[in-house]
Parts: sequence; C-alpha cells; structure tokens
Amino acid sequence: MCMKRLPEPELMQNPLQVQAYSEADFSNSDALLIRRIEEYLLVKGKQIDSKSLIIDLGCGPGNITELLSRSWPSVRVFGIDGSGPMLAEARNRKDRRKSFNDLRNVSYFCWNLLSIADGTINFKGTGDLIVSNSLLHHFHDPSQFWKALKSMSSKGSITFHRDLRRPSSMDEAKALQKMYLPDSPEVLINDYLASLQAAFTVEEVKTQLHIEGLDHLSVYEVEDRYLEVVGIF
Ligand SMILES: C[S@@+](CC[C@H](N)C(=O)[O-])C[C@H]1O[C@@H](n2cnc3c(N)ncnc32)[C@H](O)[C@@H]1O
Repeated sequence: MCMKRLPEPELMQNPLQVQAYSEADFSNSDALLIRRIEEYLLVKGKQIDSKSLIIDLGCGPGNITELLSRSWPSVRVFGIDGSGPMLAEARNRKDRRKSFNDLRNVSYFCWNLLSIADGTINFKGTGDLIVSNSLLHHFHDPSQFWKALKSMSSKGSITFHRDLRRPSSMDEAKALQKMYLPDSPEVLINDYLASLQAAFTVEEVKTQLHIEGLDHLSVYEVEDRYLEVVGIF
C-alpha cells in the first residue's frame, strides 16, 4: 500500500523556490544520471553525433542541460521549461560560462509542455536523445507528459527519464528527506516532501505507458527513491 498521491504545482515559479532549487547542490545525483545515460547508449550500441539533437525537458536552472552539453559538446542541446524564473536562472548560468567558451551548443526555450502536448506549440524538430529529471511528477495529468514526449520523438529517438517515486508513507518520505536533504533551506525541504507525495509508483507509470501506447519503454525502480523510464522509439 502506498500513500495517496498529492499533486504539487506544475511549474516552479515562486522566486524563493527557484532560488533555493538553483542554489542546491545536486551534482552527485546529476552526474550519476549522465553516467547511466552514457551506459545505456553503450549497451544499446547507439551514438549521438554532431547532427543529433538532445532535449532536456523541464530543465529548471539548467544543471542537467549543462552536463549533457559537456558530454556532447558538438551536439545541439535544447533545455525546455515552462517557468520564466527557472529559465532566467538557466540563461544567467549560461552567460556566466560564456567567457570560458562553454555551453555554446545550448539553447533554452520557455515552453509549457502542456502546449506541446495539445499542439498549441508546434515543435518541428525531433529529439535524438530526450531526457528529463524530476519532471514527470509535476504533471497533474501525466498523459500530457507522454503526449509531449511522443510529439517530439520519431523512430529511433532515445528517451531516458528519471524521477522520484512515491514512498509508502509520510514517515518514509521524511526519512528520505533527512537522509538526502538534511540541512537544506526550509523551502527546499518542503518542495522535496511535496515532490515525494506527488510522485508516481512504477506500477502507475506502467499503466500510463500502456494507455499511451508506449509499452516498449521500460520502467523500473532505482535505488531507494527513484524510478527510471527508458527506451527507444
Ligand atoms: C524539480 S525541477 C527539475 C529541474 C531539473 N530537471 C533538475 O533535474 O534539477 C522541475 C522543472 O520542471 C518544470 N516543469 C514542470 N511542469 C512543466 C511543464 N508542464 N512544462 C514545462 N516545464 C515544466 C518546472 O518549472 C521545474 O523547473
């Protein structure tokens, strides 16, 4: 039995929330995500070349986008987020790296994925590698996330998503918070607990994938708090 899902606001727009999130150090888990993507590509014998497009959905302040950019410096990398304040952080970070000739392959777009899902924004390209971290649980209706993903993919697109998974109880959620965010600002702690409550279980994601005709994507638990959804279109 798992605690009931409690959705949280989709976009992260509150300035205090954006500041706390941008200043937090997620470098270990971010680096691990990139390693897992690289390993997945290796196992599948897939290569990302200079004509490819990498998309980071729900890129927030650009922490994962930057790592993708550095792993594939000759490949275009798009970071997409619906929150203006989050993208302002991402763009500022990019500007600060300009003099190091860094992140030149990165472009940011302030787009709500709900508008891509319903076709209001007509995203013309398709991603060769489409990634997200800590995004799926933000969707009140997760089918919108899968619809947006489908409209940005084509045959051969590689997709890799990691998110929190919902713990069985609030006690378990608080234990995870104490372990992984022990001394963080209150706003970040509250966001983390809200994210754990809004997150999905592996079984719920399997059902979402089935409904959207995405049974070819795999979903599984990773460590004590994550789930991953990976596959090739
Ligand atoms: C928890 S942050 C994750 C940021 C980054 N990916 C990371 O791993 O640190 C989730 C981000 O998704 C964005 N987001 C949520 N729903 C969205 C939507 N419908 N369209 C675009 N961005 C969305 C939020 O604004 C927020 O910046």
